[in-house]
Amino acid sequence: MKTVTVNASKDYNIYIGNNLLDSCGERIKNELGVCSAAIITDDNVNALYADRAEKSLSCAGFRTVKFVFPHGEDSKSLGVYSDILNFLAENHITRSDMIISLGGGIPGDIGGFAAATFLRGIKLVQMPTTLLSAVDSSVGGKTAVNLSAGKNLAGAFYQPNMVICDYSTLDTLPPEIFADGCAETIKYGVILDKDFFEFLQNNDIKENIEYVITRCVELKRDIVDMDEKDLGIRAILNFGHTIGHAIEINSEFEISHGSAVAIGMVMASKAAYKTGMCGEDFSGVICETLKKNNLPVSCPYSPEELFKVSCSDKKRNGDTITLIVPEKMGKCVGKKIPVEEMLDFIKAGF
Ligand code: GLY
Repeated sequence: MKTVTVNASKDYNIYIGNNLLDSCGERIKNELGVCSAAIITDDNVNALYADRAEKSLSCAGFRTVKFVFPHGEDSKSLGVYSDILNFLAENHITRSDMIISLGGGIPGDIGGFAAATFLRGIKLVQMPTTLLSAVDSSVGGKTAVNLSAGKNLAGAFYQPNMVICDYSTLDTLPPEIFADGCAETIKYGVILDKDFFEFLQNNDIKENIEYVITRCVELKRDIVDMDEKDLGIRAILNFGHTIGHAIEINSEFEISHGSAVAIGMVMASKAAYKTGMCGEDFSGVICETLKKNNLPVSCPYSPEELFKVSCSDKKRNGDTITLIVPEKMGKCVGKKIPVEEMLDFIKAGF
């Protein structure tokens, strides 16, 4: 088992190991004390893993209650969020109790937002069960729900009190969901760690899962420690996301986040080279590493289709948009360009 400690507005430990679900009760009790624990999860994860967590929590003396919602992005809504808050109230969850978000990014984000807001904030333990949530969304305190106007538009920065990542849960992930997490994993190498990128070029992610998750979490921890509220350096975590987001929107979210980010990383690297922002074209090596991990690398939409929606991106600030591009392998930087140059940038990515 590996432990990574985050030192943000809250200090907390991230535990990464095999079969940690079965000992989660003792671990939480030792660090956070015994209380009532409200497990927030979706129906898929509930059927696979909730029993193990509940058993361990009960053995350690926790009273557990559980809120299960249908899996899928539609559940990351104000309606489900409100149902969770009412469930917490009806089950007498108090300020000294906790939410345990068990699952992928959706239980993590909506459970986290409920923890941030119920009684103005209660304890939160994140238990990621997808590679994407293990390496990204469970760490760093971004919590949110979607509005009809767009994804993640209502939320809070709210750090968990603990993250327990039991990577045995990744065994049941469908291959395409595992691949989604591989895209974010490869992203960390490109933006922050050349040696890690080279490791991913030459090694299998599944065979090295403990090391891979730990390295991603350490890299993300370093960024969150420096810029918890996403006012500066944290933006580099959005490498591949501006074009990726435009791809997701064009596909009406049929193309998954990881696949869209994979294509976005290839296009942003190629465009950065062709427009002179970067002295080397890294799109080839990034492409090979993504393909090795069953990720798509070419864009099914035209530059114009991407441009139309890319300018509503959160990275836009008035008349400029900040693109995250590689300066060299293992170091990405933000480059501000006028919005009217965005179409040419996208075209250069093809
Ligand atoms: N997922 C990007 C971030 O946490 O900032």
